[in-house]
Amino acid sequence: TSAAQAAESADGPVVVAHRGASTYAPENTLAAADMAAELDTAWVENDVQRTKDGRLVVLHDTDLKRTTNVEEVFPDRSPWKLADFTLAEVKELDAGSWFSPDYAGARVPTLKQFVKRLTRNDQKLLLELKAPELYPGIEAQTLAVLDEAGWLDESHIDGKLVIQSFSADSVKTVHALQPSVKTGFLGTPSVADLPEYAEFADQINPNFGGVTADYVKAVHDVRGPHDRQLELFTWTVNDGPTAARLAGYGVDGIISNSPDVVREATAGS
Ligand code: G3P
Ligand code: CA
Repeated sequence: TSAAQAAESADGPVVVAHRGASTYAPENTLAAADMAAELDTAWVENDVQRTKDGRLVVLHDTDLKRTTNVEEVFPDRSPWKLADFTLAEVKELDAGSWFSPDYAGARVPTLKQFVKRLTRNDQKLLLELKAPELYPGIEAQTLAVLDEAGWLDESHIDGKLVIQSFSADSVKTVHALQPSVKTGFLGTPSVADLPEYAEFADQINPNFGGVTADYVKAVHDVRGPHDRQLELFTWTVNDGPTAARLAGYGVDGIISNSPDVVREATAGS
C-alpha cells in the first residue's frame, strides 16, 4: 500500500511524522520524509525558514549548529544564525552526520525540494512557519513556492496541506492571503478564546501536556473558517501509551518522531 492508501483504511487519529520520521533519520531532511513514507506515514511535518539571500529552507532551529557541521565548516561565523548564511553556504553543510554516519552528506533541503519529494512519495504536508517574526513576508513567499509546485491546486488544497505556526499573526496572514488553505495555530488557547482563533485557523495544535478530553471536546464544539468543526493535532508524542490515551480523548491527529509506534498504539493512519 502507498502512504495515501494506508491513510484511508484506518480509523484512529491521523499520524504525522514530526520533522519527518525523525527518530530514524535526521530531522527535516529528504531522508526523513522518505523514512516516513517507508513507514507508510502519509503526513509529514516540517519547519520553514529563510536564508540571507532570501531562499526558503527546511530547518527547525534558527541557527545551524545542532543539526549541521556548520561550526567546522565556518568556524568564524558564530552564532551561526540561518539568516546570516546564503543558500550556497547552507548547501555546503552536512545535515546528516550529527545524527548518524549512515546519513553523512545529507543536505538542508529547500522548501521546493522538500515539497517535490513529498509529491513523489504521495505524502501530505503540515508545514510550520518557524519564527516568522524573523522573516517578514515569509507567508506570501511560502505560498508562492507551494503554488509553483502545484500544492495550491484543488487536488492538494483540501486534504493534503495545512500551514501552522506559533505566531497567530502569521496564521492570520496565511488565511488572509489564501483563504482556501487549511491553517493551524500552535498553542493552547483558553476555551473562551477558541472562537477568536476559529476566525483564521482550522486546527488548534497544542503540546500534549495540556490536552484533556474536555479540551478536545471544547475545540470540536467550535466551527472553523471553512465552516467545519475545528480539529486538534497534538505534539510531540513518541510513546504508545500516551498516544493511546490521547486517541481516547478523540484527538484528530498526533504528531510524532516515531509514527510507527503511534500508529501501532492507536490504529491511526
Ligand atoms: O508540529 C508541532 C511541533 O513541531 C511544534 O514544536 O519545536 O517541534 O517545532 P517544534
Ligand atoms: Ca515544528
